[in-house]
Amino acid sequence: MTRHSHMRLGAFLYPTGYHVAAWRHPEVPADAGVNFAHYAELARTAERGALDFLFLPDSSAMRGADLSELSRTAIRYVAQFEPLTLLGALAAVTERIGLTATVSSTYNEPYHTARMIASLDHISGGRAGWNLVTSQNPFEAYNFGLPQHPEHDARYRRAQEFAEVVKGLWDTWDDDAWVRDKESGLFFEPEGVRPLDHRGEHFSVRGPLNMPRTPQGHPVTIQAGSSGPGRDLAAATADVVFTAQHDKNDVKAFTEDVRARAGKHGRDPDSLQVLAGVFPFVGRTRAEAEEKAQRLRELIQPEVGLDLLASELGHVDLSGCDLDGPLPRLPPSNSGQSRRDLLVRMAADEGLSVRQLYQRVAGSRGHRQVVGTAESIADDLADWFESGAVDGFIVMPPSLPDGLDDFVDLVVPELRRRGLFRSAYEGSTLRDHLGLRRPGR
Ligand SMILES: Cc1cc2nc3c(=O)[nH]c(=O)nc-3n(C[C@H](O)[C@H](O)[C@H](O)COP(=O)(O)O)c2cc1C
Repeated sequence: MTRHSHMRLGAFLYPTGYHVAAWRHPEVPADAGVNFAHYAELARTAERGALDFLFLPDSSAMRGADLSELSRTAIRYVAQFEPLTLLGALAAVTERIGLTATVSSTYNEPYHTARMIASLDHISGGRAGWNLVTSQNPFEAYNFGLPQHPEHDARYRRAQEFAEVVKGLWDTWDDDAWVRDKESGLFFEPEGVRPLDHRGEHFSVRGPLNMPRTPQGHPVTIQAGSSGPGRDLAAATADVVFTAQHDKNDVKAFTEDVRARAGKHGRDPDSLQVLAGVFPFVGRTRAEAEEKAQRLRELIQPEVGLDLLASELGHVDLSGCDLDGPLPRLPPSNSGQSRRDLLVRMAADEGLSVRQLYQRVAGSRGHRQVVGTAESIADDLADWFESGAVDGFIVMPPSLPDGLDDFVDLVVPELRRRGLFRSAYEGSTLRDHLGLRRPGR
């Protein structure tokens, strides 16, 4: 059973496209991550399709101790403009599309974060959102004065308090507190402000925010961790959950679980929307779509594939393992758990060798790959959406800009023909697009 009249669709903008070898494709600008004209084109394409939002992943470090070893693999780590700065500029060249950026609670302060996202919400007229993560990349620690990446559970404890402070700061002003009355000389109504006075385990923040309440009240909160603590964080704080899932029944169980957890936090379980990542190769025929996938697969350098697999599995050492043998038993890891469990299970279920697994992973990197025509992809997305397993999808084009053009020009019209997606924006804020109510103070 669907919960909405149409599905939610976000555009995941990994600069060159999500496929690890996309940057080597002749039609992809290899400097995409620092090419504003490229992002402006992508944003306009997504807006032409009336997609709900752009989504920018992020990381604040190159990975790895040895920079010379990184020279062939660095492209796979988000090497792009700082996302909130980029979205500020994209706000000026778009009108309706939502603008969402990944922000790490492990390596930021909540006051800065609340202020930056509130600024983006004002600048864009209510189109801002943030994807709260605890950071996947352990090498960020060395750029922020820490000897090592904090433990998984400790990161999530900080994230819970972080989200509480950010939202508290967004609520420090009444919507109409800033009267700016030139006649009387009253800038704001004194009874319209409430400092935060937060004192917790990780943060002491007096507040208030030095800015009026934003057009959306609360910019949209996305959460993208799928472990137990990740689900609890989503249940307590998120409007949207972004998850990597391969099986319709698994994602259905996941959705039911995060909604039940939201209920335990005193929230309306239906206020939480679940979007699954999808990595589509779209062709005018199935053969054309397969060819596109094969072309990128052939561009993967073996050392890149193996290195990528090692970090997706939690930064394990795979050097010296037999590429044509099964995945060896893995030591425990302090990195993301959900992605690792998914891959180990996939390799065992399908009897994949290490090489086959890296070829699979290097392509979609844990997200669900779909290959086919607009009709077959629309069938697939419709099946997940109509069964109530998800509220929509975050589309992760394998290469850019062509992968987004294919989705918007071929798949979106097919979804519209079936009444599964809007033909034009109806509201003006990201909350409007997602059908989320604006929270009162
Ligand atoms: C779909 C998805 C997207 C994510 N995107 C990012 C990202 O852009 N940057 C980042 O540092 N962490 C990202 N994460 C990491 C998680 O938010 C989380 O901080 C970490 O991986 C632990 O996740 P876990 O709860 O699944 O164990 C992402 C995770 C998922 C599942």
